[in-house]
Amino acid sequence: MLCKLIGIPLQDGASQLGCEMGPSALRTAGIAAALSDLGHEVEDTGNLGIAAPDQVEHSNPRLRNLGSIAKWIEVIADAAYRESAEGMPIFLGGDHALSAGSVSGLARRAALLNRPLFVLWLDAHTDFHTLETTDSGNLHGVPVAYFTGRAGFSGYFPPLAQAVDPANVCMIGIRSVDGAEREAIQETEITVHDMRAIDENGVAVLLRGFLARVASANGLLHVSLDVDFLDPSVGPAVGTTVPGGATFREAHLVMEMLHDSGLVTSLDLVELNPFLDERGRTATLLVDLTASLMGRKVLDRPTRRY
Ligand code: ARG
Ligand code: MN
Ligand code: MN
Ligand code: MN
Repeated sequence: MLCKLIGIPLQDGASQLGCEMGPSALRTAGIAAALSDLGHEVEDTGNLGIAAPDQVEHSNPRLRNLGSIAKWIEVIADAAYRESAEGMPIFLGGDHALSAGSVSGLARRAALLNRPLFVLWLDAHTDFHTLETTDSGNLHGVPVAYFTGRAGFSGYFPPLAQAVDPANVCMIGIRSVDGAEREAIQETEITVHDMRAIDENGVAVLLRGFLARVASANGLLHVSLDVDFLDPSVGPAVGTTVPGGATFREAHLVMEMLHDSGLVTSLDLVELNPFLDERGRTATLLVDLTASLMGRKVLDRPTRRY
């Protein structure tokens, strides 16, 4: 597999500074070597960037960095579309606003291939706010609403070439949902597996059901991994920690099952804030989880066909 590393030093969508160092930390933790050791070809395409953004006004006075995020989305979506023609894009974040760009660019690619795009959202949060409903004003809280085509983004974020069908989105790890998101997401066909669902069923059962749907639709599968999916005890380097997250083993199991499925075509690694890390341990864990997703395992196992 040709892995295309795309650095996205974006932090304007988060409340705390520091995510701009995410791509450097992932490189320092050895992401390229981890992939090439598994036999993959790796091309580091460097970091994306934007020109100075315009000041953009909006009726929600709390919105932060609207002009900047709009520009980032455009640049990221272009890169996602372009790089996905040649290999598997791995987006090195950067805060979660980047997924508004990565997923929308990948949806455009999927439409061209005449295949549906599925999204596995591994996160404590649903990130389903609109520009109107966000109370923090942090735009890392809106990407899912944008790429599934919720109203209220037009004129601010780039027009979508292709929205993602909400029925093709599955969230796992959810444990922090704002009031406005809760009502809105329950009206959609998005599958939301909160931590209680993991506790009751085990993460493998939940993931297997989703992978079977991706396989039977011959879909492309994008995985968006927010550091706060993890329990803060194993992944402390994130500005929005929420207790009660995925354990080390649950996270690796998800990644190993994703590998065995053979379905994953792209990956976001987001919200890593190296300024909050303990001697690089969260960056190292993200690299190890990526290695599990890309084939590192304790013992050989057959590919599982869903
Ligand atoms: N729902 C909260 C907000 O809108 C938290 C969002 C956290 N998102 C993230 N990608 N870490 O501010
Ligand atoms: Mn998130
Ligand atoms: Mn989150
Ligand atoms: Mn909020």
